[in-house]
Amino acid sequence: MDVELERVEGAAAFIRERAPGPREVGIILGTGLGGLAERIDADAVIPYGEIPHFPVSTVPSHRGRLILGSLGGKRVAALQGRFHHYEGYDLREVVRPVRILAALGAKRLAVTCATGGLNLTFNTGDLMLIKDHINLPQLSPLRGENLEEWGPRFPDLKTPYSPRLMELARDSAKEIGVEVREGVYVWVTGPQIETLAETLMLRNMGADAVGMSTVPEVTAACQLGMEILGVAVITNVHYPDDHRPITIEEVVSQGERAAAILVELIERTVEKI
Ligand code: HPA
Repeated sequence: MDVELERVEGAAAFIRERAPGPREVGIILGTGLGGLAERIDADAVIPYGEIPHFPVSTVPSHRGRLILGSLGGKRVAALQGRFHHYEGYDLREVVRPVRILAALGAKRLAVTCATGGLNLTFNTGDLMLIKDHINLPQLSPLRGENLEEWGPRFPDLKTPYSPRLMELARDSAKEIGVEVREGVYVWVTGPQIETLAETLMLRNMGADAVGMSTVPEVTAACQLGMEILGVAVITNVHYPDDHRPITIEEVVSQGERAAAILVELIERTVEKI
């Protein structure tokens, strides 16, 4: 058996033993957004370090636990803490947890992330449904030998984000009474924050928000045939004349502030799936 497939299957088997039964929805919680975990009625909480072959999160704002339980009446598996290219992982490791979620039965994936706003009509604290993305570094987690188990060698990414799930999220936003934005996410590897010239380029390119995650995971999930919902929190906005440095503390605290609404949005949307 392929080594990566063995790792994914091995991790999934371990998780199934701790919390039996298939999962319907996978959830990835981004920077400062771990609070959703508290809303999950958990059967098991497993620190990543205990799961064989699971990468270990090095980012302090990411706790590194897998939460198995129910949310909105659905059986979910939530990753509290994700892995980024900038931490030094190769992209195969970055997407391993997504493949593990799929191996646990999840056919749907809700991805959340912190982002910097490029669209100047956005405000700090806004939520943005991701309608499309730009893989700016043109790096792929699908590089290397392709396994049939994971899907086609050349998956089509014309509609990575499910219009159906976006519609459900719009309905949920209306119920809660919050306005959600919609836009294009552009992936940069980071960890440095963009220069003013770069933010101008990214905006001109057609991106509404910039972040350091999500695209690799969505690429792998798309290849797996998962139905995907992406929700970004705008933790800061890149105004052209604003030279104030953006700090990770600001990103985390804005993420935490928006988390309550995000939690409500995800929970209601998961309920409708
Ligand atoms: N740039 C890149 N990633 C981010 C930002 C940003 O401004 N804010 C939150 N994640």
